[in-house]
Amino acid sequence: MKPKVYVTRFLPKVAMDRIHSFCDAKVWEGELPPPRDVLLQNVTEIKGLLTLLTDKVDAELMNRAQKLKVVSNCAVGFDNVDVEEATRRGIIVGNTPGVLTDTTADFAFSLIMAAARRVVEGDRVVRAGRWKTWGPMILLGQDVHHATLGIIGLGRIGLAVAKRGQGFGMKILYTDVVRNKEAENELPIEYVGFDMLLAESDFITVHTNLTRETYHLIGQKEFEKMKRTAILVNTSRGPIVDNMALYDALCSGKIAYAALDVTEPEPMPATHPLLTLNNVIVVPHIASASVATRTKMALMAADNLIAGLKGEMPPNPVNPEALKIK
Ligand code: DGY
Repeated sequence: MKPKVYVTRFLPKVAMDRIHSFCDAKVWEGELPPPRDVLLQNVTEIKGLLTLLTDKVDAELMNRAQKLKVVSNCAVGFDNVDVEEATRRGIIVGNTPGVLTDTTADFAFSLIMAAARRVVEGDRVVRAGRWKTWGPMILLGQDVHHATLGIIGLGRIGLAVAKRGQGFGMKILYTDVVRNKEAENELPIEYVGFDMLLAESDFITVHTNLTRETYHLIGQKEFEKMKRTAILVNTSRGPIVDNMALYDALCSGKIAYAALDVTEPEPMPATHPLLTLNNVIVVPHIASASVATRTKMALMAADNLIAGLKGEMPPNPVNPEALKIK
């Protein structure tokens, strides 16, 4: 008998084939996440759950899923999963680090470029028939090359963004809870305190995890410390930035521009005040969205799921200590 699993969205076919070959899988095929009641109904008999970052895996769900052995989250971030609760119950949780690093860093850099050089505004001008001539003062932006890049969170993705910044001759500052001397030996980067990074950077790019400590890490007080010309880019998790404080900072000229791949809430409603502003770019959480990377993420999630079902350590466990409990 194959173990029962629930998969909360259709993934690339190679990954679905791998899952079906080992599991008795029920798959939610909707484009939107399964509604909460549907998710809860479907977990009572399962041993494995393959989720996306849109699915909340909390104590309520785990109470329903008494046979659950493994949660495989098809994302590197896992703030949608109550990992502490899973660990207490001996449920192993997997994620998909590494394979999306360069793709996400490329995208963060593309937002830096697009915001600095007003690419999206330029496109809107042309489409609206407002392109009258070449003009010496039209859509002037900021240079990226040789500017100062401030990286909040020097994990894999932050480091990959630093490498891109190096190619553009940028001065690179970073801040993190731990200093990474090895990276400092490899790259021309400088470790600074949070406030100094805010004050000195032309571009501030966020790459930290969402935790209780980083919720609204960037709010009114932080915008006040930034340069008036600063550009903020967020490709990590929406709630790290206080959106209403950001709206105020952009309206009042405390900072110049923002480019967000992630928002609070997601999806951001089209009526959100930020979307009335020209100096903000918002895209729908697509930093890892290349064909190759999404396929690798799905395969990695399938492998984590299958290993967990076999009682083995998944290739990418978030809470390896969960398995020792059993
Ligand atoms: C993740 O993996 O956490 C990203 O936000 C989506 O790829």
